Amino acid sequence: MVFQLSEEHLMIQKAARDFAHNECLPGVIERDDKQVFPKEQIKKLGELGFMGMMVDPQYGGSGMDTVSYVLAMEEISKIDASVSVCMSVNNSLVCWGLEKFGTEEQKKKYLTPLAKGEVIGAFLLSEPEAGSDATSQRTIAEDKGDHYLVSGTKNWITNGSSASIYLVMAQTHPDKGSHGINALIVEKSWPGVTVAAKENKLGIRASDTCTIMFSDVKVPKENRIGEDGFGFTFAMKTLAGGRIGIASQALGIASGAYERSVAYSKERKAFGTAIMNHQIIAFKLADMATKIEAARLLIFKAAWEKDHGMDYTVSSSMAKVFASETAMWVTTEAVQVHGGYGYVKEYHVERLMRDAKITQIYEGTSEVQRIVISRSVLR
Ligand code: CAA
Repeated sequence: MVFQLSEEHLMIQKAARDFAHNECLPGVIERDDKQVFPKEQIKKLGELGFMGMMVDPQYGGSGMDTVSYVLAMEEISKIDASVSVCMSVNNSLVCWGLEKFGTEEQKKKYLTPLAKGEVIGAFLLSEPEAGSDATSQRTIAEDKGDHYLVSGTKNWITNGSSASIYLVMAQTHPDKGSHGINALIVEKSWPGVTVAAKENKLGIRASDTCTIMFSDVKVPKENRIGEDGFGFTFAMKTLAGGRIGIASQALGIASGAYERSVAYSKERKAFGTAIMNHQIIAFKLADMATKIEAARLLIFKAAWEKDHGMDYTVSSSMAKVFASETAMWVTTEAVQVHGGYGYVKEYHVERLMRDAKITQIYEGTSEVQRIVISRSVLR
């Protein structure tokens, strides 16, 4: 067992850290406040090769491993989780599945511009009545011979309005349940696609979370990913990797709040000394550091398993549930360490606390992760 990052990993970590400080930190409070999508930041992330980090260079990607992706996600999430969620969805939920299961034509036409960051992708599984219960898809993809006609409503879609390529899960054979679902590549510009409402959220406010409606959208059969009925398996396999991305986001949110708390506790004086000299604060920092390290190790293990061709379904769920709960706990404590200053925007930790909450909800709630883990341990 080697607990050491390679030179290349350290370079990627530094590049992501510099990018986060130079490009994401300026304006992060205003973007959050006014819900402004970080368009420039995402464009530059694409130029850096961070929108298709794990994709083979022949399809426009950077050919990096999952550990590199985790490192980059953590650094960017320390500063701006609205940027990192866009990056995570594009990398894990869109590019990964297209590269793994797409046809050569699909990879050339769709994966390549997505991996280069020229366009953004979105993953459309959730529906008003199919969140955790993802097999209950109501969106229909009616088989019309050489094409499907797609109708229905998807909600909570990250990158909903900024994406131009959608991976849409829809039911073709309702009698077959989860085995009747297809995954289809749909272009936002096609007739019948409507970006409906944009959500006004508690956290990750600069990211665009939307409801998308489909009305008789004609999708050619060559845009189906995998065999007929592969859509649910596709979604589940894709989400296992997505959960590593969101766990890394949670890790970054937690470590961002922790680093700010350490710095603040060295500067802030109370009762005649820096507050770090009060054991009640020092112990909080010790607990934060310990939980963050434990989360990081779980995430690295899942990433390592993925890079080594092993089954990472359970390890990614363990990493996500632990990292997201750590993020919520650490950020809440970080606000407490900052006292009144923690409650105002200028000190960033209140935003990190608001952003932490979504990591317990999207890409499978904490309850869903516990379903996945308990089924495995009780098998
Ligand atoms: N890999 C391959 N196949 C899988 C699988 C996996 N990881 N998980 C399930 N399957 C298969 C099962 O084997 C089963 O096949 P059989 O019928 O042949 O046995 C089939 O899929 C149905 O599986 P289950 O019986 O386990 O299904 P379930 O109804 O009990 O639900 C669940 C399981 C784990 C709760 C699943 O529905 C789930 O993960 N729900 C959460 C969905 C989710 O994460 N949504 C997030 C939306 S995306 C998002 O948030 C992105 C964003 O914008 C940020």
